[in-house]
Amino acid sequence: MQDYINKNKDRFLNELLDLLRIPSVSTDLTYQKDVKRAADFLADRLKEAGAEKTTVFTTAKHPIVYAEKIIDPTKPTVLVYGHYDVQPADPLELWNSPPFEPVIKNGNIYARGACDDKGQMYMHVKAFEVMMQTSQLPCNVKFMIEGEEEIGSENLITFVRANKDLLKADIILISDTSMIDNETPSVQTGLRGLSYLEVEVSTINRDLHSGLYGGAVANPIQVLCKMIDSLKDADGRITIPNFYDQVVELSKEEREEMAEAPFDVEVFKQSIGLKDIAGEKGYTTPERTAIRPTLDVNGIWGGYTAEGAKTVIPAKAFAKISMRLVPNQDPDEITALFVNHFKKIAPPTATVEVRPHHGAVPVLVERSSVGYKAAAKALEKTFGRKAIPFRAGGSIPVVALFKQELGLDTVLMGFGLDSDAIHSPNEKYGLFNFYKGIETIPYFYQYFAEMSK
Ligand code: BES
Ligand code: MN
Ligand code: MN
Repeated sequence: MQDYINKNKDRFLNELLDLLRIPSVSTDLTYQKDVKRAADFLADRLKEAGAEKTTVFTTAKHPIVYAEKIIDPTKPTVLVYGHYDVQPADPLELWNSPPFEPVIKNGNIYARGACDDKGQMYMHVKAFEVMMQTSQLPCNVKFMIEGEEEIGSENLITFVRANKDLLKADIILISDTSMIDNETPSVQTGLRGLSYLEVEVSTINRDLHSGLYGGAVANPIQVLCKMIDSLKDADGRITIPNFYDQVVELSKEEREEMAEAPFDVEVFKQSIGLKDIAGEKGYTTPERTAIRPTLDVNGIWGGYTAEGAKTVIPAKAFAKISMRLVPNQDPDEITALFVNHFKKIAPPTATVEVRPHHGAVPVLVERSSVGYKAAAKALEKTFGRKAIPFRAGGSIPVVALFKQELGLDTVLMGFGLDSDAIHSPNEKYGLFNFYKGIETIPYFYQYFAEMSK
């Protein structure tokens, strides 16, 4: 198998570069044709690799790519999930090279989607090719690759509910998370959930001259800032009543296990230009990003922000706010708590509107599953080191859905690094990680098939 990988290494990479050249930005409909092109590209590559029933399913927005290879219906089935859509590339001026013209520098591929998730997802397509071409596929495999992950997976939800038979499997396998570092493989044991909202505060019916009216009316931007500031107390705890009610606290043993994962606070600070760490009192930085919920302002605007000065009191102020959730917080419940609270803390002069966006249910991975064990064993095999269990701070909305609708556990075998700058300018993915993934995935299949017996 390694022989086949070595011989086809360059082609694997070139195919990924071709995929990265397609700007499949799901949120911006001016790219709709490109999104479709990425789906067709994948379907073609899957077919070439030996997949059957390869289909590009159209949906109300972006297509879903499905393919399968059933070698023996009595053997177990792995359902690979991934996404070919990417985040917008802006701010463009901060990229060192154009986001959809991938370049290789210092062993990394730089492009939007290099890591999230084209690079990681494509490892599965190539690992499948490797197993097929060397006649070593040990169990059945199905692929479901979507184009709406970055915008909430709305049409995948419909697709999954409508295609339960087609998607019958024994385990879901996903590479769309990070590992600890290139020397330390890890199996991710959880994902945070998400509640995302937009708020609007108004105090007056039009923009006003700040000399004629200033001092006599509440400024909506300042009202909004005060309201937002009050959402966390001095200890970094969220002040929304009942926010923490459903949070499952970790045992001392679980926290000790987490603390075993290598983490260097100085490297963390330096890598993002941070002068000092911050966060909820009583928790370490890795805990703050994995096992604790949090609230962040993602954007805030209003009033005059163009060149020069304009003396004005704006009529309205806006913000986008996200809350990352942990088991067993329910995104709908948290959203309702937020809406309620945010309206309650508004001063009498302000009118507040809250508009909820998409959410995600937090996930705890089943560590006793055969899939989890097979992933840990495969990583240990190719890295020569024990994989460390590790909870991811990000969200993948559909993982909870897979459990709920298909009854399937998920294995999160991520090969990215937090430093890969996903969603940021200069996103990258290591060649080491790309090839390591292609090498490791076939072992996952082998162990999963063996251990399922
Ligand atoms: N692949 C990421 C999620 C991720 C990254 C999880 C690294 C764990 C470690 C995914 O594409 C993503 O960006 N998810 C969004 C979800 C949202 C769009 C509903 C997120 O986490 O913000
Ligand atoms: Mn992703
Ligand atoms: Mn993403």
